[in-house]
Amino acid sequence: MTTTPANDPPVSAWTTAPIVLRSTKAETPGVFTAEFEFKCEQDAARFASRPGQFNMLYCPGYGESAISLSRVCENSQRLVHTIRSVGDVTNRLARLKIGEIIGLRGPFGNGWPDFPDDLQHLIVVGGGIGLAPLRPVIEQFLASHMATRELTVLVGARSCEHLLFAGEYQSWRDSGATVIATVDRSAPEWKGEVGVVPALIDRLNIRDPAETQLFACGPEIMMSYSATAALDRDIPRDNIWFSMERHMNCAIGHCGRCQFGSHFICTSGPVFRYNDVQQLLTIHGL
Ligand SMILES: Cc1cc2nc3c(=O)[nH]c(=O)nc-3n(C[C@H](O)[C@H](O)[C@H](O)COP(=O)(O)OP(=O)(O)OC[C@H]3O[C@@H](n4cnc5c(N)ncnc54)[C@H](O)[C@@H]3O)c2cc1C
Ligand code: FES
Repeated sequence: MTTTPANDPPVSAWTTAPIVLRSTKAETPGVFTAEFEFKCEQDAARFASRPGQFNMLYCPGYGESAISLSRVCENSQRLVHTIRSVGDVTNRLARLKIGEIIGLRGPFGNGWPDFPDDLQHLIVVGGGIGLAPLRPVIEQFLASHMATRELTVLVGARSCEHLLFAGEYQSWRDSGATVIATVDRSAPEWKGEVGVVPALIDRLNIRDPAETQLFACGPEIMMSYSATAALDRDIPRDNIWFSMERHMNCAIGHCGRCQFGSHFICTSGPVFRYNDVQQLLTIHGL
């Protein structure tokens, strides 16, 4: 029989942990990274998460929003979320003052798959704020796998000022990753690529497609065309993964708010194999 220590009760999906805002950093127009700390020391272990999972951040009087972890800090009291201000909750989060306390439920969702043993090449495709849930994968990969495996990070944004985490690309390159950023609209100071992300996949050096995986998060049209480009390069369908986004309420499969075909994104996702969502993505307005 297992017993639960009196001071460490099991976390229910409705348990809300108090978290304290410790710092904020402006990233791109309307996007900022907030670093929180669990108010209660034991909550760090109770609410531990993995790359690709999300938390429900609760601002009293405003409501809750699903926000992914943009950095996974193991064995740490810290929680890092990167947030785009679009409405009631996210605008309230943007106005929080250092030291203010909000609530957190989570973590929810499946997260990105583990790297398979035979993985040779990981291609990460992030569009706009979609790079946020991918950063923990990039950091995890660079920390553990670079000696024998290849990492390519493809980033897309409307313009160069919208490139998320742009200040980190050089350190990812220094750690061995290939990082290519592309923008829809150029500017005099921009010396990089102009155009859509999937076009970059056509030009990649992919030595062993069968042992290559592609993780994508961002606008659905970007993910779909990236999958098509990957299939054209002989990357198997089963190796292509999308992180999906829909409005959420309960985050535990009860309310149906996040329904996507036969899936609830909060419980079956947010990360899906391309095969499982390909047809659904062709249905307008689903
Ligand atoms: C699994 C998951 C992970 C997410 N991770 C992040 C993240 O890391 N960072 C981040 O900034 N955002 C993330 N989001 C999106 C975020 O949850 C929504 O932007 C947020 O809930 C908006 O809440 P709000 O109260 O500020 O806006 P609201 O007032 O609810 O909405 C403002 C506007 O945005 C639209 N909107 C709200 N939510 C969504 C949605 N999910 N999809 C499409 N349109 C929407 C509304 O229709 C409305 O037009 C994620 C969503 C999901 C499902
Ligand atoms: S958010 Fe309620 S079922 Fe997914």
